[in-house]
Amino acid sequence: MSTRKGLILAGGTGSRLWPITQGLSKQLMPIYDKPMIYYPLSVLMLSGIREIAIITTPQDQAQFQNLLGDGTQWGVQITWLVQPSPDGLAQAYLIAEDFLAGDPSALILGDNIFFGHGLPELLASADRLSEGGTVFGYQVADPERYGVVGMNADGQVTQIVEKPEVPPSQLAITGLYFLDGTAPERARQVKPSPRGELEIADLLQSYLAEGNLSVERMGRGYAWLDTGTHASLLDAANFVRTLQSRQGMQTGCPEEIAFAAGWINAGQLKVQAARYAKTEYGTYLLGLL
Ligand code: TTP
Repeated sequence: MSTRKGLILAGGTGSRLWPITQGLSKQLMPIYDKPMIYYPLSVLMLSGIREIAIITTPQDQAQFQNLLGDGTQWGVQITWLVQPSPDGLAQAYLIAEDFLAGDPSALILGDNIFFGHGLPELLASADRLSEGGTVFGYQVADPERYGVVGMNADGQVTQIVEKPEVPPSQLAITGLYFLDGTAPERARQVKPSPRGELEIADLLQSYLAEGNLSVERMGRGYAWLDTGTHASLLDAANFVRTLQSRQGMQTGCPEEIAFAAGWINAGQLKVQAARYAKTEYGTYLLGLL
């Protein structure tokens, strides 16, 4: 089992989804049949991680707790933390410093959805590296919206730049970061950027400068979906719906991952299935038994 701890960053303002997200956290919104946060949570669980801290805004925490509780239903342990204001992704490591207690971590953004054949293997190989960091590069049509990888002529990664006007490549860094136990102390060295945020790109740059960052290519066989705008939210929901109805299999189903890993037994799975008896999700859980 992994000694790595998980972090889900589920705060932010969601201003591109206003007015919807004025009354509801973005990460609680539905992606077809499940709340958005189920998908990143499932990625951490697929990585073998059972100790997970969820960072929310102070005002949204109670709703997240109503939904997810303490994680026992999935054989994981959820710790609740808050980010008083959205001061940047790297701040997650400062907020979670005591929770991490020097252990390596996997941070995932609460609005990132990943899907692809071979994902568990990709996650397992990132988990094996206990020193340094691993992030994932994904080719996108609009790199200027993301942290982007700069490479030299030999294809070696030389820099990661946040939202560049002129992107050095089309390779964006996804919202999933496997970092070693030094991340909090490195985060403390990061100064707020001109937009006032502690940038994850600056934190990654500190690993990169020491030759300690591996950028793994997440190839075209993977889907890395954006959920930050109204159109992309609907696209993500349609993607999940298409996939699930074609395959008759769920994506982002914590019960399935927990049961397959032996973290919950058949009795516990039955309890969950009974709770959702009126839905296809419940029928699916029953079918796993
Ligand atoms: P963004 O999409 O950059 O920001 P946002 O979600 O607030 O949305 P908008 O741009 O529409 O205002 O954030 C990416 C993810 O990281 C998202 O899940 C929110 C989360 N986040 C935090 O939890 N804390 C932060 O300080 C920031 C910047 C983001």
